[in-house]
Amino acid sequence: MATIRKVGVVGAGLMGSGIAQTCAQSGYQTVVREINQQFLDKGLTRIHDAWNTMANKGKLTQQQLAENRDRLRGTLELEDFADCDLVIEVILENMEEKIRLFTALDHILKPDALLLSNTSSLSVTQMGAVTKRADKICGLHFFNPAPVMRLVEVVQTLSTSETTIDEAKKFALSLGKTPVLAKDTAGFIVNFLLIPYLIAAIRMLENGMASRDDIDIAMKLGCGYPMGPFTLLDYVGLDTTLWAAEAIYEEYKDPLYAPPPLLRRMVVSGMLGKKSGKGFYDYSNG
Ligand code: 3HC
Repeated sequence: MATIRKVGVVGAGLMGSGIAQTCAQSGYQTVVREINQQFLDKGLTRIHDAWNTMANKGKLTQQQLAENRDRLRGTLELEDFADCDLVIEVILENMEEKIRLFTALDHILKPDALLLSNTSSLSVTQMGAVTKRADKICGLHFFNPAPVMRLVEVVQTLSTSETTIDEAKKFALSLGKTPVLAKDTAGFIVNFLLIPYLIAAIRMLENGMASRDDIDIAMKLGCGYPMGPFTLLDYVGLDTTLWAAEAIYEEYKDPLYAPPPLLRRMVVSGMLGKKSGKGFYDYSNG
């Protein structure tokens, strides 16, 4: 089994930066790539702010803080992944983009490097099929916020080797996560169960069955969930939820997963949740 020392993360958005942060603070040399300097700076700032907060709370010593910083590097070049042992793709949920990226990385990466996708809704099989290393490709699906949430879904395609699954699980454990194994079917485990719940909450609101606040309070206090469904929708992102719902609906044509009209219209209007300043709640005043 290859030893993983250096990790590449493609994408420094909310999930990409959280995953890069987790890798670097778990002891891996980590290089994170974005498509332009502005996006890269934003992602790196998010990570350094999180480490500063941890240090201020006494959860990191000054030495650990300095070591974390040393292990993390930003880049705009895919070629900087050439000596990585494992690369995690965390770009937009767009299959054309992912295929372009996987094709390019297949040429750049070392022959034995693992190539993992954090996709929550697209087929890992399709990404692997455009490479000559389909046995070294699997899903590694983190949850938001990635540094905090303890679950990682390891997603196996028909071509993923058992060795790759073992390495991916071992890697997840080394990040302090608990891995679960899922087949490459739309939604894997968590979203297959979570999306119908979130969609049902939106339908209740659309149908006037209860108010946003009462639905949130009910699920938080009635079920002991950390967040009600609308707070969670805003937190995860309405666009991400819509993509996941569409992907599962596309695969099974089960009306349980059909995106409600309100969700689609909010996404079209740019109301994406916390990240855009407005979703089911308004965050414009912080
Ligand atoms: N980065 C790093 N640390 C963070 C963080 C972040 N983004 N957000 C919160 N934390 C830390 C806080 O600093 C705090 O640390 P401390 O205990 O040392 O002080 C700790 O996490 C708890 O945070 P808070 O005290 O601010 O607030 P909560 O106790 O309410 O926890 C939460 C916040 C962890 C987000 C919690 O509300 C929660 O678990 N919510 C549900 C999240 C969830 O369900 N995520 C999965 C979504 S589905 C998904 O991602 C899949 C996708 O494909 C759709």
